[in-house]
Amino acid sequence: MERTYIGKLKEKVGEEVMICGWVDVRRDHGKLVFIDLRDATGKIQMVALPSHKEAHESVQKLRSEWVVEMTGKVNKRPEKMINHKEQNGELEIEILSATVLNEATTPPFDVTSDGMEIGEESRLKYRYLDLRRQRLQKNIRLRHEIIRFIRNNLSDEGFVEIETPILTKSTPEGARDYVVPARLYHGKFYALPQSPQQYKQLLMVAGFEKYFQIARCFRDEDTRGDRQPEFTQLDIEMSFVRKEDVMNLIEGLLIKLVEKLAPEKRIQQKPFPKITYKDAMEKYGIDRPDIREDRNNPNLLAFCWVVDFPFFEKTDTGGWTFTHNPFSRAIPEHEDQLMKKDNLGDILTTQYDIVLNGFEIGGGSIRNHRPEALEKVFEIMGFETDRIKRNFGHMLDALGAGAPPHGGIAWGLDRLVTVLTNEPNIREVIAFPKTGEGRDLMMESPSQIESKQLKELGLKVVE
Ligand code: AMO
Repeated sequence: MERTYIGKLKEKVGEEVMICGWVDVRRDHGKLVFIDLRDATGKIQMVALPSHKEAHESVQKLRSEWVVEMTGKVNKRPEKMINHKEQNGELEIEILSATVLNEATTPPFDVTSDGMEIGEESRLKYRYLDLRRQRLQKNIRLRHEIIRFIRNNLSDEGFVEIETPILTKSTPEGARDYVVPARLYHGKFYALPQSPQQYKQLLMVAGFEKYFQIARCFRDEDTRGDRQPEFTQLDIEMSFVRKEDVMNLIEGLLIKLVEKLAPEKRIQQKPFPKITYKDAMEKYGIDRPDIREDRNNPNLLAFCWVVDFPFFEKTDTGGWTFTHNPFSRAIPEHEDQLMKKDNLGDILTTQYDIVLNGFEIGGGSIRNHRPEALEKVFEIMGFETDRIKRNFGHMLDALGAGAPPHGGIAWGLDRLVTVLTNEPNIREVIAFPKTGEGRDLMMESPSQIESKQLKELGLKVVE
């Protein structure tokens, strides 16, 4: 007999089926033994009757989380036994046979609850079990649907998905880099990308015009509820666009996405309100304001744009650094001021952040596509000509090789999914997240490496 998925049982009423899955719950009432069986598509209540002696005996041996193959007859439940809240609440399978495919050790915790009552250390150590619970299955599946929606929509709009390197070079994007020692070049290191920023700009120079990537990014910074050392961006870059073009595209995509995949949500205001950085700081005291009219409503989505950020801020040592991204362009009215290095603190950038319910879920800008302007930014940051050439020679060369005007954005995909699922932190929407201290408790990473590996890499550990 061919396997039937539990999600398809409604089409099989009155028939004999074979189903496979995990024992979710077993309730032994002596004469009647009930099994709730679970597969990737749902759950079904099954019952072993004493009249099917062999099946009844084998079902009594089953325990939670055992993997089984069962055959049985799909029956309609009598009217008063129907449970309208359950997916298959009107059905019950009369068990004809049960075969154990694999036993399971007693689970360290309940996987049938929402898991909020279980310590996170334990959940992360046994993540493969934790992921069995319905809440996480739903989150990870919704995440997949969101990515699929984005891929299809952007592809239809003429965007090309392009992978960029993971082994790359340190870039000054504000956070600390993760580095990888180069075996063939002792003393030299690759860096893992904080974002594909430079590569996506180089793809614009290369003439792709519309790029996107579901990109893994790495930042060695303190982990928080909305931060992971590795996280995922929807990364986008476009040529010959103005700020409004990028913002309109993103806004349209977000609205369509919410309407299709989270129809229970209400978007507070369309088009999304635009708030200047100055107004946000004056009115809300923060550059990612939560502008929800009603914070008790879990289905309210208050998107807003924050624009007109200052380009530079003072460093602790009295110099200047960028607030967001050295590659950003000043707003058109302030481009002259930048070239003249006039009143640096007043220069505004084309940076736009997209904020949802107080979370910064994305940010981007129009870039400096002329090498002189990018060079000026680095000068303002106090970089010597030598260092500019060494660190950014490739970018300046590329911009000098016929770079189109371009700009883009990156969404923090984990954060967006977190808000759409009403989860308290981004670890609940990532299959294998790290702990607050950056550890993978299941793999026990980071871990020591063999002394042979250290030697090959030309490294010595200082105790
Ligand atoms: P930015 O650094 O603002 O911009 O990152 C874009 C978005 O990524 C999310 N994000 C994070 N999510 C989880 N964990 C983290 N540690 C983390 N850090 C950032 C945020 C943020 O808004 N290259 C530019 C984008 C561009 O200009 O096109 C960039 O990376 O939601």
